[in-house]
Amino acid sequence: MASLRDKVALVTGAGAGIGAAIALAMAAEGAVVAVADIDEAAARRTADKAAAAGARTLVVQADCGDVASIDAMVARVASELGRLDVIVNNAGVTRPAWIMDLTEADWDRIHRVNAKGVFFCLQAAARQMIGQGRGGRIINIASIAGRGFAGTSNAIYAASKGAVISLTKTAAQQLGRHDINVNSICPGVTITDLFERVVEGQARERGKTREQMLAGIEKPIPIGRANTPEDIAAMAVFLASPGARNVTGQCYNVDGGLITS
Ligand SMILES: NC(=O)c1ccc[n+]([C@@H]2O[C@H](COP(=O)([O-])OP(=O)(O)OC[C@H]3O[C@@H](n4cnc5c(N)ncnc54)[C@H](O)[C@@H]3O)[C@@H](O)[C@H]2O)c1
Repeated sequence: MASLRDKVALVTGAGAGIGAAIALAMAAEGAVVAVADIDEAAARRTADKAAAAGARTLVVQADCGDVASIDAMVARVASELGRLDVIVNNAGVTRPAWIMDLTEADWDRIHRVNAKGVFFCLQAAARQMIGQGRGGRIINIASIAGRGFAGTSNAIYAASKGAVISLTKTAAQQLGRHDINVNSICPGVTITDLFERVVEGQARERGKTREQMLAGIEKPIPIGRANTPEDIAAMAVFLASPGARNVTGQCYNVDGGLITS
């Protein structure tokens, strides 16, 4: 199967975790993949893995909290790979903190990448896709934190993901006339570096081990297990594939049943 044969897909924050898994899964489905990350060495590691499996790749160093850097990233993909068919807005940041310990600096740092960054990546990608005149797919990585998950890393992060969910709906309504589909994925607990940093902070605060914390986190999940990054990648591949051509404006939880709304 090669559901994304010859599609050009750009994945942000693809040097690690969920973004790396999405880049590799799209490459395995035949896509040409632009691997973007603020950490160029990390992006190169993902691209090397995809290339070793036979994919054509492009490494792009980009800061998804900076509009000039976002515009340069999209322009580079278009000029070096010829066009842009799919963007996955995955780059995101957070830190574990109780609501009363959050600061203005936390708001600015988290919303700069998670909310502002997703909007301007979406807008730059849509501008390119509209110019091409052959539609496109925009996939935003939100979180069940944006749907009220009590185990969120912090309240500011939850608000940034709520912004992504709202933006997905309005963007789908306004870009549909250009055959551009816009959807979100809301990952639940997903074992990545980001997750490990959050669990480490929460474990320290509560005087527990990482294993005790993870057992407590997995207990309320109906399916009984946390996600791997590949669980999120599978949904992203579907949303980019021909089978999802009439799916737009939706936000899909991939969380083992933790949140049912
Ligand atoms: N891991 C989880 O449990 C979980 C749950 C819900 C949602 N998410 C979301 O999934 C996405 C990926 O999370 P992850 O767990 O893989 O994180 P991660 O920290 O493991 O990886 C994130 C990647 O993004 C890159 N990055 C950070 N800031 C960037 C910037 N300004 N510009 C470009 N790249 C940048 C990092 O260098 C890193 O390679 C994030 O949006 C996150 O909020 C994660």
